[in-house]
Amino acid sequence: MSPALLHGEHHTNGHANGVKKPVDGFGTRAIHVGSEPNAETGAVIPAISLATTYRQEAIGVHKGFEYSRSGNPNRNALEETLAAIETGGAFGIAFASGSSTTATVLQSLGADAHIISVNDVYGGTFRYMTRVAKVNQNLETTFLDLENVDDDTIAAAIRPNTKLIWIESPTNPTLRLIDIPRVVAVAHAHPSNPLVLVDNTFLSPYYSSPLLQGADIVMHSLTKYVNGHSDVVMGALILPPRHAELNNTLRFFQNAIGAVPSPYDCWLAQRGAKTLHLRMKAHGTNALAVATALAKSPYVEEIIYPGLASHPRHELAYRSLAPHARKFVDAHLAAHGEDGGFPYGGMLSFRIRGGLAQADKFLTSTRLFTLAESLGGVESLGEHPAKMTHGSIPEAERLALGITDNLVRLSVGVEDADDLVADVEQALEAAAATLEA
Ligand SMILES: Cc1ncc(COP(=O)(O)O)c(C=O)c1O
Repeated sequence: MSPALLHGEHHTNGHANGVKKPVDGFGTRAIHVGSEPNAETGAVIPAISLATTYRQEAIGVHKGFEYSRSGNPNRNALEETLAAIETGGAFGIAFASGSSTTATVLQSLGADAHIISVNDVYGGTFRYMTRVAKVNQNLETTFLDLENVDDDTIAAAIRPNTKLIWIESPTNPTLRLIDIPRVVAVAHAHPSNPLVLVDNTFLSPYYSSPLLQGADIVMHSLTKYVNGHSDVVMGALILPPRHAELNNTLRFFQNAIGAVPSPYDCWLAQRGAKTLHLRMKAHGTNALAVATALAKSPYVEEIIYPGLASHPRHELAYRSLAPHARKFVDAHLAAHGEDGGFPYGGMLSFRIRGGLAQADKFLTSTRLFTLAESLGGVESLGEHPAKMTHGSIPEAERLALGITDNLVRLSVGVEDADDLVADVEQALEAAAATLEA
């Protein structure tokens, strides 16, 4: 069964007259699923429903909503949109933040469980695993270099109580790529049959569809690309059709914990999701342009962008593209040739010639890249992982992960590419001047 058909089974409503609706593309789903015009007023955009409680016509007789923590029209609408755009998904669950999403998943594993996690997982996820779940529920985590270890090593790390394998791909900030189908195959062939979760925040549902690659759960910090405008903190889980029971379990935990987003934030995130496909194409072409300029600069020691042929997993990046992104990338390659690489998300990292002083000079000399944490918004951001996002990792571990003092991470926005390239080039000149001084 093709992925699109699989998706269509769950998200396209057949017409009342029995005529089957065609399976819609990514952008069409993003704009229309969960956003039908209001039946009463005709409003094209959903109203924001702030009510915390709902009238019951008789005891237990209601229109599907009782109390806003358990369900709210804006949250439901966003969840429908999310399940439609995370291709292969059937169930979406929206949370108050990416971090509360992580916490809910890990709490649902119960006491004394074991999980395997990619070794350079997002710092907040590492912190929750090692300093909260370890203390509160005796969760044991084995951190593995899932990019490089062989299948036997992964299989050998799975224990009778291993319930989950946590993947982030690409990793942050060194953009290592993990072969998701390979990890899924090892996990699902093992008698313990752990679930495979992919944090798909960095690529967004536009560039990567882990559920089509066999993953059991996709998670997102919606704070990043899905909302896309740096004005909402939210998270989400999306599950495939086979995991109806797991969806119920996770919803039960979410409701019990109360890790729910506000209706207004859901409304904003749904609005953001409608332009995800447009923004992700622009993020990708801009990041490729900036990466190409950085690769040519004498002031750059190394550029890390999986869309460039110089990236060690460039071939895997192409192979793992979501079907809709593959079409976009193929059109780019046909127009520009293969040597220049292809758009692959908006995140890149590079090692500037010099050290901390040059990284600092670069990051404070840009006109358009704002020095700030986070990523995925329309505006370009730059940050210094060693001192900012990854500052809490002990130095030896940081260096082992390649997070050196001259590493700079950029979240390339959707401004005009020429302006971004010029900005990066002038900031590199400014940084280089401090080298020579
Ligand atoms: C990959 C990844 N996962 C999860 C999170 C946590 O999400 P939030 O900040 O929405 O809690 C982040 C935040 O930076 C992230 O980058």
